[in-house]
Amino acid sequence: MKEDSRLPHYEFSDKYDPKHAKQYFEKHHASLGDRFITWRETAMVREALVMAGRPSTVLDLPCGTGRFWAMLAEEPNRRIYAADNSQAMIDEGLRMRPPAVTSRLAGTYQCSAFATGLPDKFVQCVCSIRLMHHIEKSEDRILMLKEFARVSADTVIVTLWVDGNLGAWQRARLEERRRSAGKTASVNRLVIPRAQFEREVAAAGLQIVGHVDFLKRIDKKRAYVLRVPRS
Ligand SMILES: C[S@@+](CC[C@H](N)C(=O)[O-])C[C@H]1O[C@@H](n2cnc3c(N)ncnc32)[C@H](O)[C@@H]1O
Repeated sequence: MKEDSRLPHYEFSDKYDPKHAKQYFEKHHASLGDRFITWRETAMVREALVMAGRPSTVLDLPCGTGRFWAMLAEEPNRRIYAADNSQAMIDEGLRMRPPAVTSRLAGTYQCSAFATGLPDKFVQCVCSIRLMHHIEKSEDRILMLKEFARVSADTVIVTLWVDGNLGAWQRARLEERRRSAGKTASVNRLVIPRAQFEREVAAAGLQIVGHVDFLKRIDKKRAYVLRVPRS
């Protein structure tokens, strides 16, 4: 599909071709460490979904290769939709996940999270895991949050990297070392200060219900549960 040149473009989005999709799927099953991360991340998002009121329709955006489809399918009556900018990632998930899980998908869509093309209030909850920490510009994060707020009738779950923990401190040191070595700071993935992100949430017209941390004060990954005000 041809990309809309009016939408923000991030270079990292271009890397998810069929080869990378296969590697992405395999990487998350490879080591004990990677499997622990997925296990804990899954528990974090499961808890966020309970905080969101166990929504019966969920859009997983970006779904990647479907790391969270089995967990989303734990609610037997839930309708699950999956979307991603990369058709290769969706296809790899459909190919590799068990049929009992993929058969629970009510629809898949190749689209940008900045403009999905999906109807207003399409689902009760938009669940966005591991995308926001790639979005460098504040105005782009607000644009994305507004799109999630439009597509959801009730809640939005967003994971990102936040400050105020050991992981963020280590990341800042790494960036500092890169700068002193004359390398440009990595903008591929970034820590977003909590206070700033919470202002962006308000700017997008969303309200904070709560959050779940991956490992409180240790790790930088956090899931925010946001509410779409009733109109
Ligand atoms: C790090 S992966 C995360 C996938 C999945 N949520 C997970 O945690 O396994 C990032 C995903 O974002 C997708 N992506 C990148 N830019 C995007 C955009 N502008 N809109 C929607 N998806 C995007 C990529 O294709 C990729 O599948």
